[in-house]
Amino acid sequence: MQIGRRKAPTGRVAYVDGRYVPHASASVHVEDRGLQFADSVYEVCAVNGGLLMDEQGHLDRLERSLRELSMDMPMRREALKAVLRETLRRNRLKDGLLYLQVTRGAHRRDHLIPKGVRSSLIITARSIDPTGYDKKRTEGIVVATFPDIRWGRCDIKTTGLLPNVLAKTRARSTGAYEAWLVDDKGFITEGSSTNAWIVTGDNVLVTRDLKSNILAGVTRAGVMAALSRAGVNAVEERAFTRDEAYAAREAFLTSASGGVIPVVRIDERRIGEGKPGPMAARVHSLYRDLSLEEALAPRHKG
Ligand code: PDD
Repeated sequence: MQIGRRKAPTGRVAYVDGRYVPHASASVHVEDRGLQFADSVYEVCAVNGGLLMDEQGHLDRLERSLRELSMDMPMRREALKAVLRETLRRNRLKDGLLYLQVTRGAHRRDHLIPKGVRSSLIITARSIDPTGYDKKRTEGIVVATFPDIRWGRCDIKTTGLLPNVLAKTRARSTGAYEAWLVDDKGFITEGSSTNAWIVTGDNVLVTRDLKSNILAGVTRAGVMAALSRAGVNAVEERAFTRDEAYAAREAFLTSASGGVIPVVRIDERRIGEGKPGPMAARVHSLYRDLSLEEALAPRHKG
């Protein structure tokens, strides 16, 4: 197997969940939460002359990162140190890097953090020619400046979903089904895995405009198309505050997984009469009709 441009050196060994395996065939489950949600933490340790550098600092930070995400250490610290050394030994690593990743483990895909899942531990080793860095140290390097967007690009449907996972899990612990995310100016952006809508007292449908801070939901677009086809033009794409949402006549959310789902309470505030309203039901049926029609007789070839 070709790893990057260079062939993986023969004899390279990775550690995955209790087993030392050939690097080229080392793998985790397709439903590993590290893969699907970035629900994982990692460390990179330098190896110089066969010695692990700053091991304590890296293991301390690993423990802290795991604690912050309510994850357990995959094994006791002393055992982990032994595994790190054994990985070094099996790779005959003199100068290079040890990469260590702990994921929350494999589970049927769900943003909600599952209980009782065994975490996965992955360790890989890679040798590095130290003269490359020696040259950089002698010559110095160039940097370029960029806006710090970590992570402001919610318009890209990446699997970097850890903040969404944490929000959904916290929402569920308070008895809520979904988390609606509020930006630093007090405006609602979207749900952790859904787009957010409200219906004002004047029966205007409002959902956040498409910028980099929300995902352009395909269901959201389908709802827009269905509304326009039905001649419903009282739709505004704009920011709305949490207070405006509290005072809304109705609220609902949209996503591929659930279609249109009415919201009856936000935090401690009852929305409208505290039960699913007529607008959400209408939007659901308009959207369902249009999406069914399109699925049966696609207008655009995908
Ligand atoms: N989530 N916003 C976010 C952050 C989402 O993850 C999703 C979809 C949506 C709605 O987009 P769409 O209508 O295209 O499903 C909005 C999917 C359902 C998920 O991650 O399970």
